[in-house]
Amino acid sequence: MPVLVDSHTHIDMRLYNRDRDQVLERARGAGVAALVDVGCDLNSSRAAIRLAAQYSEVFAALGFHPHSAAKMMDSDLERLSELAQNPKVVAIGEIGLDFYRNLSPREVQVEAFKKQLALACRLKLPVIVHCRDAQEEVLRILTEWAYGAGRAKEPLGVLHCFSGDRELSQRYIEMGFLLSIAGPITYPSSHALEIAYHVPLDKLLIETDCPFLTPQPHRGKRNEPANVSFVAEKIGEIRGVPSDVVAEHTTANAVKLFGLPL
Ligand code: NI
Repeated sequence: MPVLVDSHTHIDMRLYNRDRDQVLERARGAGVAALVDVGCDLNSSRAAIRLAAQYSEVFAALGFHPHSAAKMMDSDLERLSELAQNPKVVAIGEIGLDFYRNLSPREVQVEAFKKQLALACRLKLPVIVHCRDAQEEVLRILTEWAYGAGRAKEPLGVLHCFSGDRELSQRYIEMGFLLSIAGPITYPSSHALEIAYHVPLDKLLIETDCPFLTPQPHRGKRNEPANVSFVAEKIGEIRGVPSDVVAEHTTANAVKLFGLPL
């Protein structure tokens, strides 16, 4: 059985309170050896750490999602930095910009994004970046960060659920980022086909972003980490390689990015 890593989950959400043990059991059954639970604010970041303490295969990312940017106080950065001392914290995220829903004002999102990038740099942690309808702004901010004085070791982070085109993917790869593909790759009109086909296998991660973005054939139901196997299979199909090869590379990339003890 291939060894998989789900690089982006939200299994701390209440939606899993009733059956989290079974969800993780199914993930193990599908070959998921590690998964990253990604925080969206201070509470979910704390919850991610609690899950990481409870389940050996769970690792935590800490951060304020752009939707929650408006409630991030400077004192929260201090809290995150204290929480990051926990050895199972592997990244700062998810951070970034979401100009589609604009649940926090744009300039507030930019401010929170930049402050958390600086935090990641201080903590020497990679970043997990969310970008929706803000390609230009995210590229500008990450370029400045990546080529700035405080450049961390590569890979610098991952563009989660990457939705850009091939040219943009090349820019990010040159800067030292990985790109992650999620369940929508299995949808008939996926925008990510070109990316799944062209991006070198040593630059790809896979994820579920569960409970969101459920892949075929379970589309419409709550998503869960076991379904990351459908993402690996689909990428294999697109590239004409066995899904084991996709699993092997994406797992090695996740191990390198997050420093996972696999
Ligand atoms: Ni997410």
